[in-house]
Amino acid sequence: MALRKILTMEHPVLRAKAKKVSRFDPWLERLVNDMRETMREAPGVGLAAPQIGESVRVLVAEYEEQQVALVNPEIVKASEEQELGTEGCLSIPGYVGDNVPRALAVTVKARDPKGKEIRIKADGWFARILQHEIDHLDGVLYIDYIDPKDVRPVSEDEMVDEGEVIERDPSGGGTTVEKHGRKAGGASKAGAQKAGGSR
Ligand code: NI
Repeated sequence: MALRKILTMEHPVLRAKAKKVSRFDPWLERLVNDMRETMREAPGVGLAAPQIGESVRVLVAEYEEQQVALVNPEIVKASEEQELGTEGCLSIPGYVGDNVPRALAVTVKARDPKGKEIRIKADGWFARILQHEIDHLDGVLYIDYIDPKDVRPVSEDEMVDEGEVIERDPSGGGTTVEKHGRKAGGASKAGAQKAGGSR
């Protein structure tokens, strides 16, 4: 396994539509392993292959007991109900965006790295991550959904470091927040950020 460099948004690969994977081979397994390692190191909760310069439809995501590596993922069902949340992105370091709309629940059809068909139902926080990462495969970034004035530098008291990390609001308000970084005290800081981001 190897750590890979995470590209930032000025890189054109992040705006390209990634290609479908047709071969489930050792190259793909290595890619998935590298992506997992790179995501954990960042640290982050999700990473899409274009973010490390590979324009193929592969993503990894991890949250609590949920760990997925999805190849050729497709959203086959999305709830009409949406919610607004604050997101960061490993490819847009130092910034977060407020009021990013996402479906509350999604069903995703994909293959695993061995080629087996899988179907995943996600809601809330995990659904947001999957939507964010699948967007990366189509060259879409969270900034595309929101008013430019809702994109702001991460403030000092948000304890932000680089990372694509989302924290669920511990008070359970149903809104979510994605913040950068996970340092000491990060979780409570995320809660504070959420309060500002859940308008
Ligand atoms: Ni991202």
